[in-house]
Amino acid sequence: MYTQKLRPRRMRISPAMRAMVRETTLSAKDFVYPLFVVPGENIKEEIPSMPNCYHLSVDNAVKAAQECWELGIPSVEVFGLPEYKDEDGSSAWDMTSPVQRAIKAIKEAVPEMMVVGDVCLCQYTSHGHCGHLEDHYVDNDKTLKLLQKVAVSQAKAGADIVAPSDMMDGRVAAIREALDEAGYVNVSIMSYAVKYASGYYGPFRDAADSAPSFGDRRQYQMDPANAHEAIKEVDLDIAEGADIIMVKPALAYLDVVRQVRDHIHHPVAVYNVSGEYAMVKAAAANGWIDEKRIVLETLMGMKRAGADIIITYHAIDAAKWLKEEE
Ligand code: PBG
Ligand code: ZN
Repeated sequence: MYTQKLRPRRMRISPAMRAMVRETTLSAKDFVYPLFVVPGENIKEEIPSMPNCYHLSVDNAVKAAQECWELGIPSVEVFGLPEYKDEDGSSAWDMTSPVQRAIKAIKEAVPEMMVVGDVCLCQYTSHGHCGHLEDHYVDNDKTLKLLQKVAVSQAKAGADIVAPSDMMDGRVAAIREALDEAGYVNVSIMSYAVKYASGYYGPFRDAADSAPSFGDRRQYQMDPANAHEAIKEVDLDIAEGADIIMVKPALAYLDVVRQVRDHIHHPVAVYNVSGEYAMVKAAAANGWIDEKRIVLETLMGMKRAGADIIITYHAIDAAKWLKEEE
């Protein structure tokens, strides 16, 4: 008779055994929660394509940040819808804009929280591209000058981390230099080093009113087919002084996350983007999936792929669910 000796199932026999041999952990400490800040007061309006995510005025953004902190989420990333837009997106470095006011107010209310500013121009330019246009082409080096101003204004407002998401060449070095010159040597740079030109940003562009008015972003964001190029982008950003390296989107690019993790010694972040969120919310609303299970399994997958930090719209729900499991 055949005797079975090799039994991996022994290691799955009980919750305690499974806990003992679990390789990956997921915790609220891994999360960054994105906030969409708008002008005005006492505003909390749900974003149609992102159920349970809101446009928040500064006062309510502070409340959301406080809720995150109480749940053990150490960080928020601030995105903004400005009062005005122009050709070069000058409201992106206006100290009276919602982002700068929100950063300051959150740091006042929750000083220990890590506040991240998203550094880009597409929410602020009249044409919706991520930089300065010369004849319908985004001019790289002129854009760097603008990004420097955005980063310094956010540092001045109190940001702990600035996160350039524009995909211009040389922006990390340019931002590092500007921050250092302005005296912000301890403000970190989380670079969206590997950012693909992705259909998964659709709901965000509705939420942030940042869709390009012509063309697309394929001349600056990466081709989804390329992984070697991801490593090249990572090497350049590290050489330029990036402190944290991000891969975005997350789900369709977990192979890239693993390659980046194995290639560097810096913290790796992933952005679980709006389209990934919207798909889960839509299926859950239809009763087709178990939202809690799917979300926790997905976020665990990102950790297992090598992410240290997960920027996710699920952060608040996931933190509550993880508390229930304790
Ligand atoms: C701006 C920016 C985008 C996202 C973060 N910063 C959109 C884009 O590049 O069009 C996407 C976030 C999301 O989809 O959740 N450059
Ligand atoms: Zn942009």
